[in-house]
Formats: sequence, C-alpha cells, structure tokens
Amino acid sequence: MEHDFSLETLLQHIGEETGFPYGAVTPPIVQSSLFTARSLRERNAQGGLNDAGYVYTRNGNPTVRLAEQKLAALEGTEDALCFGSGMAAIAAAILTFAESGAHVICVDTAYPPTRTLLQSWLTRYGVRTTFVSGECVEEFEQAIQPDTRIIYLESPSSLYFRLQDLRAVSALARARGIVTLCDNSWATPMFQNPHALGVDIVLHSASKYLGGHSDLLAGVVAGCREHIERVLKTRELLGGILDPFAGWLLLRGLRTLPVRMERAHKQGLQVAEWLASQPQIARVNHPGLPSHPQHKLARSQMRGYGSLFSFETHPITEDQAYAFTDRLHLFRFGCSWGGYESLMLGWAQTESDAAGKAPWLFRVYIGLENPDDLIRDLHGAIATLTP
Ligand SMILES: Cc1ncc(COP(=O)(O)O)c(C=O)c1O
Repeated sequence: MEHDFSLETLLQHIGEETGFPYGAVTPPIVQSSLFTARSLRERNAQGGLNDAGYVYTRNGNPTVRLAEQKLAALEGTEDALCFGSGMAAIAAAILTFAESGAHVICVDTAYPPTRTLLQSWLTRYGVRTTFVSGECVEEFEQAIQPDTRIIYLESPSSLYFRLQDLRAVSALARARGIVTLCDNSWATPMFQNPHALGVDIVLHSASKYLGGHSDLLAGVVAGCREHIERVLKTRELLGGILDPFAGWLLLRGLRTLPVRMERAHKQGLQVAEWLASQPQIARVNHPGLPSHPQHKLARSQMRGYGSLFSFETHPITEDQAYAFTDRLHLFRFGCSWGGYESLMLGWAQTESDAAGKAPWLFRVYIGLENPDDLIRDLHGAIATLTP
C-alpha cells in the first residue's frame, strides 16, 4: 500500500489489501503453534518455512504479523515486532544492542524496571550504565565513552514528564555510531514519531494506549529492517513473541487509537489546566502546559499529548493526602494507564518536616469519562489538600 495516506487511513487498511477469509471484516486469530509445509521437499527448499512464510509461532504468526505491519506504518519504520509485554520488548532491544561489557547511557526518569534491568540485572554481564537527567544534549555528550553502544530515551518520562531533545540526541549518537532507543508509550505514534526525528529504535508498552482497554499485555520494537532482523533473532531465542489472541486484541485496540488519543489529548489538558489553577496545587507536570519548562521542545517534537501527568502539592500531612484520595469517586488507584478508566497514584516527595508535612506527588491518568465529571470529582476532594 502507498505510504502517502494519513496515519488514520494506514492504520485501518495496511496489511488488509487482500481481505480476510470469508470476507470477514476482522482478521482471523491464527491460534496455531505450528505451520506445516505440504511436503518435506518444499519445507527443506524454503529453509524450514512453509509457502506462507511461517514455521512456528515463536518465530512469527500471521495475526501478530498484521499488528506488526500496522505498527511499522504508524511509526514510519521499515518493520516492527510485537512482544508479550512492554518489558519483553525493551529487554529484547537492549539485549540485542548491548554486548557484554558495553556502556549504556539512560535517562534517569526512564520506567523503573527498565532502569533496574540496566543497573542491577545487566551488570552481571558487565554492562555499565550512566544515568543522565537528559534535559540537555551536552549531558549525553559528556557521558559518552569509547564503548558506549546504546543511548536509552523515554520522552516524555512517565512520572515527572521530562523530555529529551530527540533530534539533537539522535544526531549526536548517530555521529558516534551509537544506537538510540526511545520508549514512545506516552505520546503514541499518533503524537510523536521518534524515528522520523532520527531515533533508531522505537519502543512501546502496548499494554497502555495502543491496546487501550486494560485487557492486554504487549510490547513493540520498531525500526529499520537491519535492526529489526537483529531483534528478531533475540525474540526467537528468548521466546518473547506476543500470543496470537493478544495480537488480535492489540489489533482491535489499535482500530480506535486515533479517536481515543484525540480525546486523551483534549481532556488530559482540560483537567491539567483546571488543576494548575487551584491554590492547593504547587505545580502540574504536563508537557502541554505553557508552564512546563520544556513546553517549547514538546511542541517542536510532538503533535499532541497523552493524558497521563502528575501534580505536586504544598507540604501536607499523610492524612490529608489519603483524605483527598478517599473522597474521589471516579478515580481508581493503580499503576498502569492507557485504558478507559481514570487512575491515580501518590507519594510523599520528601521525609515529613517537624509538623509532619511533606509535599506529595500525585500521578493522574485521565480516562474516557467526561472531563467535566472528573473535574467535579476532583473539586469535591481538593480542599483536603489545603496546606
Ligand atoms: C513508560 C512505560 N514503559 C514501559 C512499560 C512496561 O510495559 P509492560 O507493563 O507492558 O511490560 C510501562 C508499564 O507500566 C511504562 O509505563
């Protein structure tokens, strides 16, 4: 299919040019572990593959492949691979490009298990990681060592919503032969295409917006053909491919991604702006707000914003923090995001002072409820945060 269509059109049509069996509108779930050839002669002549190009679902599966084709089209990459979770995708990509003893540079606000993988687990293979705040390109430049193989980015990060200058960091890395990886789960390909800005490998937790219904764990690695072939070998050996049924759920979630993200952008900003205007709130961390220190950079590399953000209070007691969350009716308390349900998490930011008070950080996810109802819910609870 021609690639000059808009993302919304590519998403619905790519990979479906020949239609599905029986004229079905939805793709079949090819729930088969094995793909056989008509004859041993044919199989051996085709290097183990059957004439449809499949051998065994750990290597590839038609339902998963359709999701991969759509994701590559959305990210504007030559190819993409799906994994059983975001962490499976992140781990496979890092393991592919960081050989034993290599040096990695990672943003210090990356998803915590990604940092744990680098800073505790991979050290057993001699991998050393330098963590940087990622707020200026010079920091990356200073951290580069002769054996730096990977620069790991997550822009925006998912707690403090800090950005990295994807164009500048990837240009620096490319000039030094370093592979750049970027977790794009927050912005999704609807709002940010890191590959078009120069990043080599785009990563997703598809358990978030791409799936969109809180019923699926999945991950994505997208990049150029040469890189994806290398990651494919890792996936085959570590066995992290997405299950066909989960691939079908991901395809179903993707169908509505553009409409859900349009809503996420609009109502995330609406609630963030309302919170920013409340005297109980010290600061709102949302890259779409002009008060965000990197708002200009956000506008230069994103076309819109996810609806996950955080806000900070003035010093309050623990009782006040829990009284606030106890009064909320429309938010659930849980650590994932990207589904239809609004969520909140919160922590004290420092040790309590002599008066038993500390500033709190609340991470908010705005789901698909009506934003006016969510604001009313927050309005009914926010007085408890008065310092
Ligand atoms: C930004 C980000 N990246 C990666 C992951 C990991 O994805 P998964 O939970 O699908 O393994 C998460 C999960 O919370 C995340 O928030």
